[in-house]
This record gives sequence, C-alpha cells and structure tokens, in this order.
Amino acid sequence: MKILVTGGAGFIGSHTVVELQNAGYDAVVVDNLVNASPKVIARVEAITGKKIPFYEADIRDREALEKIFEQEKPDAVIHFAGLKAVGESVGLPWEYYENNVSGTLTLLDVMRKNGCKNIIFSSSATVYGDPAFVPITEECPKGTCTNPYGWTKWMLEQILTDLQFADKEWNVVLLRYFNPIGAHKSGTIGENPNGVPNNLMPYITQVAVGKLPQLHVYGDDYDTHDGTGVRDYIHVVDLALGHVKALKKLEPGSGLNIYNLGTGVGYSVLDIVKNFEEATGKKIPYVIDPRRAGDIATCYSSAKKAQEELGWEAQYGIKEMCEDSWRWQSMNPNGYDE
Ligand code: NAD
Ligand code: UD1
Repeated sequence: MKILVTGGAGFIGSHTVVELQNAGYDAVVVDNLVNASPKVIARVEAITGKKIPFYEADIRDREALEKIFEQEKPDAVIHFAGLKAVGESVGLPWEYYENNVSGTLTLLDVMRKNGCKNIIFSSSATVYGDPAFVPITEECPKGTCTNPYGWTKWMLEQILTDLQFADKEWNVVLLRYFNPIGAHKSGTIGENPNGVPNNLMPYITQVAVGKLPQLHVYGDDYDTHDGTGVRDYIHVVDLALGHVKALKKLEPGSGLNIYNLGTGVGYSVLDIVKNFEEATGKKIPYVIDPRRAGDIATCYSSAKKAQEELGWEAQYGIKEMCEDSWRWQSMNPNGYDE
C-alpha cells in the first residue's frame, strides 16, 4: 500500500514516515519546506534504511499535485501539511485560511479526480475549545476556537465530514492530537521551531541547552492541582504509530471515523518541569507570568475509543517523553541548522 504523506518533512510527519516504512508501507512525501528542513528526508532514510520519494511541492499547486498523483498513484493520503502557529494565525488569518483550507480543498479535488478517496487528517484537541467535560471523549461537542489556526481544523473537519456524507466512496479518519512532544530515539529527528518556541516542551529544552534564560509559566491561578495548566502530552512516536493503526479505517466501507490520540493522563506545567529535571538532571529556572490569552485550564483525552477500535494505546510515559525531547535538543542545539 502506497501512502502519500503531505507535510512529511515536518515534526509529526517525519516520525510517521519512519513508522510507515517500519510497518512495510511505501511512503511518498510532499512538502513545500515552509516549516521544515531539506535535511529531514535523508535523516529519515538513515533511520529506516529505505529510500523515500520526496517532492518539494505546495499542496495549493494543483498542477504539481496532479503530476505527483499520476506518477505515484497513491492508495491513501495522510495529510499533515498546514501552518500551525497559533499566535501567528491571529495576525495572518488570510494566510492560514488560504494555506490550510484552500490547500486541502485542492488536495481533495486532485485525490477524487485520481480515484484516491482515502484520507487521514491531522486535527487537534483545539476543536473542543474549552471542553464541556474531561476526560474528553470523541462525543464531546466541538467548541469555539480562540484563533484562526484552530478554526481551520474545525472547518476542515466539517468539510471532510460533508464530503464523506455525500460520497460514500470516501473513507475519512479525523485524528485529534493532544500535545505531541518527544522525538525519535535516535535523536536525529525532532521538533524544530522557528524563533522563540510557543509550545512548552521546546521552550523547556531550549532553557536546558542554554539558549533561553528561564521558562515563563503562564499563570498559576487555574483551577488545577497546582494552579498551572494541565495538558495531555503524548510521545510523537506513539502518535505516529496511531496513524499506522488508523490505516485500517481506510478499508472500503469504513466511512467517517474520529479518534482522539492522547494518553488519557494530564500533567501540569510544573509537573512537566519536575519530570524533565528528574529525567535529564537539568535544572529549569522559571518565573510565574500572567495567563496567556486563549489558554484553558485543563485538557486531557479519553483514549478509550482508539484503544477499542484501532488497538492503539500510547506506550511511552512522561519520563521517555522528557528524555527523548532532551536527546534531540542536546544532539541538535540549533535544530537542523549546523
Ligand atoms: P510542522 O510544521 O512540523 O509540519 C507541517 C509540515 O507541512 C511542514 O513540514 C511544512 O513545511 C508543511 N507545509 C505547510 N504548508 C504546506 C503547503 N501548503 N504545501 C506543502 N507543505 C506544507 O507541524 P507538525 O507539528 O508536524 O504538525 C503536523 C500537522 O499536525 C499540522 O497539520 C498541525 O496543524 C497538526 N497538529 C499539530 C499539533 C502539534 O502540537 N504539533 C497538534 C495538533 C495538530
Ligand atoms: C497549543 C495551542 C493548540 C495546539 C497545541 C499544539 C494555544 C492556545 N493552543 O496548545 O491549538 O494544537 O499548542 O501545537 O496556543 N506554557 C507555559 N509557558 C510556555 C509555553 C506554554 O507555561 O512558554 C503552558 C501553557 O500555558 C499551557 C501548557 O504550557 O498550559 C501547554 O502549552 P502549549 O505547549 O503551548 O500547548 P497548548 O496551549 O495546550
């Protein structure tokens, strides 16, 4: 089975390509490298010992996509390509809607014209907004997003749902990721944020490596066990393996399926600091700052549905997530740059 992986040079995409190849699938990568290094493909090939056909192309470029489909004839698409910086999306809404929504519409059109109607889509727990209840099951109503990035996920879920409703030949899996961290055990691929990281773990690893002086903890007055925000962190390799398992829901007649990919366990910001210090022996100085706009107190999944229907369950705990994030950062202090 041949899988076209859009955004396959990115953080989650690169780890998923490794696990697809390990599981015996043929993976083809399309990425415009807007947020990825050209070095990633060679590093993934070094991990798996297999070649990866790579196309530097934009999913908004219909002609390029048509050529790729003609040449590769993929059976399914795992669709990671998109812009994902929450703060940036507030200032650049048009760019986010155009890239993420328009790009996906072009991709879907080229897929159906080539008779490829199987897609796994990268969604996010952000579609639950401030969740109506925790642990969040897939039945939890979608909420109100606080930024254009979140709305692109919300809208694309709806578009894919409507498409599948109208044409039963489509098989669609919506995967709602919680907070992916960690990196491949080799320490050769990992998350490579541009500029100052927005997300917690890359910020912590950059403090640990000496690039940033201290962590800013956004608020300690939430209604949580220590006042800091609680999230469901998941090892990126577990997340990647979730995609491999989800491929079985692209079998004919599978229809539309939605899964949370999380561990079902919530950790606060200070829990993460403590676990990181224990796992790595690195001290993380921090200050308490005001809450960050748009943040919620608590967000963690019920991971039951994916376990029951996909036979998937996260294997790695918080210790490995911290160790592996640190291995990647310490081996590559400047990410993919020398
Ligand atoms: P990433 O930025 O590392 O990967 C996205 C990749 O898509 C990048 O390599 C980028 O170059 C590529 N890309 C962007 N626009 C493109 C376009 N128009 N054409 C071709 N390639 C394009 O991000 P990631 O963390 O690996 O996230 C992958 C997907 O998962 C994204 O859709 C993201 O929104 C979603 N997601 C991520 C998280 C997270 O915390 N990382 C959480 C929930 C959902
Ligand atoms: C954020 C996005 C979400 C996206 C997810 C993964 C927002 C509002 N939400 O989720 O849409 O899907 O990233 O990319 O941005 N924190 C600090 N200091 C920091 C960074 C974070 O205290 O320097 C805290 C946050 O307040 C939060 C927790 O750490 O409580 C996790 O933050 P982060 O890693 O940014 O993820 P989310 O906010 O959960």
